[in-house]
Amino acid sequence: MRVLSHCCRLIAFSLTLFLPYSVMADQNEEGKALFATLCTECHGVNGDGHGPVAETMPLKPRDFALAAFKFDTDSDWQKGTDIDLANVIRQGPGAFGGSALMPPFAHLGEKEISSLVSFIRSRKP
Ligand code: HEC
Repeated sequence: MRVLSHCCRLIAFSLTLFLPYSVMADQNEEGKALFATLCTECHGVNGDGHGPVAETMPLKPRDFALAAFKFDTDSDWQKGTDIDLANVIRQGPGAFGGSALMPPFAHLGEKEISSLVSFIRSRKP
């Protein structure tokens, strides 16, 4: 009996360690896949801002690895917070005085947007 309860505890413990990582990994995979379909034409495969469409644009997207963000969408005196990135993705930079060339992605759900934000954050070395 004692062995059994030890065993259960060990399984429960490994699950608490493992689950958050697998959820995070899923979210990164989802973000990566969404980014690949919706964003790379301008932002480039790695988010470096060198997508094929960007080459023709006067104002190019910045390299996400620099994590230098431009918009403070909720007037909290901080640019590029998770909320700011989500707002830019949802409403497009044009809604905040930026380039109207990036369309709004208003049809995306909360989970999809936050997976995209995670992917963008993961570009910073
Ligand atoms: C048609 C080209 C295009 C597409 C498609 C596009 N973007 Fe952009 N994106 C831009 C441009 C151009 C800028 C720079 C805007 C500016 O500086 O005014 C930008 C800026 C951004 C920024 C920077 C915001 C900041 O505060 O500096 C984020 C984040 C972003 N895009 C995310 C995305 C995501 C996520 C997708 C896909 C769901 C996407 N973009 C699709 C062109 C595009």
